Amino acid sequence: MATITLLLLFAVLSANEVRAQKYDSNIINLGSFLSPKTNSTSWISPSGLFSFGFYPQDDGFAVGIRLKGEHEGTIVWTPNLNNLSASSDSVMELTKDGQLVLRNEPKQRVVVIANVSEPADSASMLDSGNFVLYSKNHTVIWKSFDHPSDTLLAGQNLTSAGQQLISANGHFILRMDTDSNLASFPVNDQRGEGIYWFEGAISMLNLNLTGFLCLLDYYGKPTKVLANSSNHLRRNTSLIYRATLDLDGNFRLYVHTFEKNSTRFVNVQPVWQSNSNQCEVKGFCGFNSYCSTNRGKAVCECYPGFVPINRNQNITFFDCYQRSQDDCKTSEDPKMLYDVVHLQHVQYWSLLPYWVIPLEMELDACGKSCQEDCDCGAALYEDGRCKKYRLPLRYGRIQQNVSTTAFFKLPSRNIIPSKPKKPEVLVDDKKNLILTLVITLGSISFAGLLFAMSIFFIYNRQVHSYRKLSASANLGFNEDCSLRIFSFNELVNATENFTEDIGRGSFGVVYKGEIQGNNRRIAVKKLDDVVVDEGEREFQAEITTIARTYHRNLVQLIGYCIDGSRKLLVYEYMSNGSLADFLFKAEMHLSWKQRIKIALDVARGILYLHEECKVCIVHCNIKPHNILLDEMWTAKISDFGFARLSIQEHSRIRSSNELTSGYVAPERQKDASTSIKVDIYSYGVVLLEIICCRRNIDVNVATEEEIMLSSWVYNCFVKGELNKLVELDEDVEWRTLERMVKVALWCVQEDLSLRPSMKNVILMLEGLKDIPIPPSPIPLA
Ligand SMILES: *[C@@H]1O[C@H](CO)[C@@H](O)[C@H](O)[C@H]1NC(C)=O
Ligand SMILES: *[C@@H]1O[C@H](CO)[C@@H](O)[C@H](O)[C@H]1NC(C)=O
Ligand SMILES: *[C@@H]1O[C@H](CO)[C@@H](O)[C@H](O)[C@H]1NC(C)=O
Ligand SMILES: *[C@@H]1O[C@H](CO)[C@@H](O)[C@H](O)[C@H]1NC(C)=O
Ligand SMILES: *[C@@H]1O[C@H](CO)[C@@H](O)[C@H](O)[C@H]1NC(C)=O
Ligand SMILES: *[C@@H]1O[C@H](CO)[C@@H](O)[C@H](O)[C@H]1NC(C)=O
Ligand SMILES: *[C@@H]1O[C@H](CO)[C@@H](O)[C@H](O)[C@H]1NC(C)=O
Ligand SMILES: *[C@@H]1O[C@H](CO)[C@@H](O)[C@H](O)[C@H]1NC(C)=O
Ligand SMILES: *[C@@H]1O[C@H](CO)[C@@H](O)[C@H](O)[C@H]1NC(C)=O
Ligand SMILES: *[C@@H]1O[C@H](CO)[C@@H](O)[C@H](O)[C@H]1NC(C)=O
Ligand SMILES: *[C@@H]1O[C@H](CO)[C@@H](O)[C@H](O)[C@H]1NC(C)=O
Repeated sequence: MATITLLLLFAVLSANEVRAQKYDSNIINLGSFLSPKTNSTSWISPSGLFSFGFYPQDDGFAVGIRLKGEHEGTIVWTPNLNNLSASSDSVMELTKDGQLVLRNEPKQRVVVIANVSEPADSASMLDSGNFVLYSKNHTVIWKSFDHPSDTLLAGQNLTSAGQQLISANGHFILRMDTDSNLASFPVNDQRGEGIYWFEGAISMLNLNLTGFLCLLDYYGKPTKVLANSSNHLRRNTSLIYRATLDLDGNFRLYVHTFEKNSTRFVNVQPVWQSNSNQCEVKGFCGFNSYCSTNRGKAVCECYPGFVPINRNQNITFFDCYQRSQDDCKTSEDPKMLYDVVHLQHVQYWSLLPYWVIPLEMELDACGKSCQEDCDCGAALYEDGRCKKYRLPLRYGRIQQNVSTTAFFKLPSRNIIPSKPKKPEVLVDDKKNLILTLVITLGSISFAGLLFAMSIFFIYNRQVHSYRKLSASANLGFNEDCSLRIFSFNELVNATENFTEDIGRGSFGVVYKGEIQGNNRRIAVKKLDDVVVDEGEREFQAEITTIARTYHRNLVQLIGYCIDGSRKLLVYEYMSNGSLADFLFKAEMHLSWKQRIKIALDVARGILYLHEECKVCIVHCNIKPHNILLDEMWTAKISDFGFARLSIQEHSRIRSSNELTSGYVAPERQKDASTSIKVDIYSYGVVLLEIICCRRNIDVNVATEEEIMLSSWVYNCFVKGELNKLVELDEDVEWRTLERMVKVALWCVQEDLSLRPSMKNVILMLEGLKDIPIPPSPIPLA
């Protein structure tokens, strides 16, 4: 029965379409025109349901195709001309020379509505809702179905030729891209993070004449029926199907019911939508606002501490903002400027946080970390991980089954941000008085602490220089108290019998430990046998050299232990692990700013080794694995002072493929030479890796030319395509990027005489010295 009805309806609809085309029943001839002032404001389809022409909008008029209904009916098509405005003086005309135009009186502006390849001879508003232009021989040369706005009607397709629907408010797009994917996303989404509905591997989206919304494959076969509205048919009704990308970003199929053989409108019902939960639609809520479902209805709200922009607008969509604390960066104690509030069950913001703290972290510490960080707009805590985000926040929603906690900063009401540096305290009640006292007392004790520390340092310096004298006198370096001598048992206890292995440094495995008594965390390196082979006196001499280095960008040696043949070194513990983890593991990401800082930190550490400490130290083994990050994200170089050991290690690893990782300068690969230029080369390679966040040699890349980082970077540099290097980054400062690339390319020159000194590297990185254009790192043969 249903099938028969279906067939009947299909027959009627098809017949209508054919009749309209064949018999030109309502043909629109050249010279016809419409105007809001006259009785003819639109061209009407034979059924009377569709009309093309002027309709009232706001205080004026607009042009488009309407489907009859309540009030003004439903707009199903508008010309995709971003600048089309009409007034009561406008005239739409099929001109004598075959153009469909809109003229705005007084006559200055003529807009062509249908871009046709040859002049039209006539036009027609069809019962399908398709407005068509015919050529002289009655073939269709233009149809509105080919230029959809926000709606598909029965018989209309969205084909893979890049066709799209744009919601009438301009906020959302549904696009069939040339790669055969169908996706909905917010218009201003540039990185594809905002896709909220997706169907892949199809050639067409089709709403067919019996109300099926289908995805078709390359052979025109339906691969998936999205919606079936055929069950809405009744004997005494006729139906019009319409699929629209609505103002809220949801793509919906509607059925309009009319009395049969009449234009009497009965009702309109939505029968399907692409996203059953409205909060799935990214961009439904504005910036800094989140979506939650309240009694089945999606609502947007500002995050705590934010207020809406344009509250008086009576719409769901609004952006929210927060008064900024401009003096955060200059404040001595940013966390005084803010309070922290939290919100549970927040699901995702846009893809990348600018900072992921990769360690297990306490919940409160995550909020505090954001509070202290001027860049942080909000932090998201989940499973012990703390991610920090900049404002504005997009695409957030509340999802009850997500166990996250989001932190937001509220400008603290206790402080008026006025004079930079010194937060002024408002004393208007007891609480604030107490706060004042606390701050004052705090400052005093802080000053006291500083004083004590400076005394200590001065004293220590004197002791230190005295010690150096005595050390050089008898070579008994162990009298140098700046190094602590541990017993083997002490270290066994500290590391719980070497249980927690935190990685392999050069020359040995490193274990995590804690000094009994003062809870200071340490890293204990058990040296390999190769190293152990060397004489004790030489070993001590080496350690003495290391002990005399002190720089904030070098990992500090705290002490050592010699116990028979066992030799162990005790270092300060670096809680954030090695730079290699952050550069090469996809799940960890350092922001561009952090990376620049790390690059400079490493350069300063090397400069100290090369030029600033008493004995020039060549590191010989600079690579991201030897660069460690402390809890403040300061980069420190480890494993220095073992150049001689490095040579041994070098010969040991020579056979292995470690050499091919490419940090070793070419001349050192040949004859194991150890000039400071060796370190410059390695630094250059590390700098390239820091810039691009990938390994120097990587075979998992798109093209062969990308395998060797230095030559790829050089090629990009020459072609002016540096953006390719940092595709995943936001906030890249292009001048800094260019400087870093140029410096790195100078450092990795095969001709060592061309490599700059570390001092010049720093000056160039900081922009204090001009950088000439670097030649190709590998001389052209
Ligand atoms: C509009 O139509 C009415 C009657 O249907 C007629 O009296 C009137 O003159 C028409 N006006 C114009 C401008 O054609
Ligand atoms: C839009 O129209 C205005 C005047 O109506 C004109 O000045 C402007 O150039 C137009 N813009 C575009 C993109 O057509
Ligand atoms: C009209 O169509 C032609 C080709 O079909 C295209 O090259 C041209 O840019 C179009 N003009 C406008 C104003 O869209
Ligand atoms: C109609 O004209 C178009 C070009 O103007 C031509 O491609 C087409 O073949 C013609 N059709 C007929 C039936 O003559
Ligand atoms: C839409 O696609 C179907 C199936 O390929 C086709 O039969 C129909 O003619 C197309 N409609 C339009 C308006 O191009
Ligand atoms: C519409 O699509 C459905 C499902 O693919 C199919 O069963 C039906 O025959 C189609 N109707 C028409 C008129 O093509
Ligand atoms: C469409 O729905 C009707 C009624 O619910 C059902 O009888 C018919 O089988 C469905 N057709 C398809 C192709 O799913
Ligand atoms: C269609 O017919 C049914 C019963 O035959 C009636 O209840 C219904 O109101 C009619 N609908 C319309 C739109 O006339
Ligand atoms: C609708 O019109 C057709 C012919 O135009 C007629 O055969 C049919 O009986 C009419 N149906 C109703 C319900 O009036
Ligand atoms: C706001 O929306 C409500 C419900 O949708 C409506 O009743 C009210 O009149 C609207 N107010 C304004 C100012 O548009
Ligand atoms: C939460 O529930 C939704 C459905 O309500 C489900 O799609 C989603 O995968 C769930 N998420 C988690 C993390 O369980």
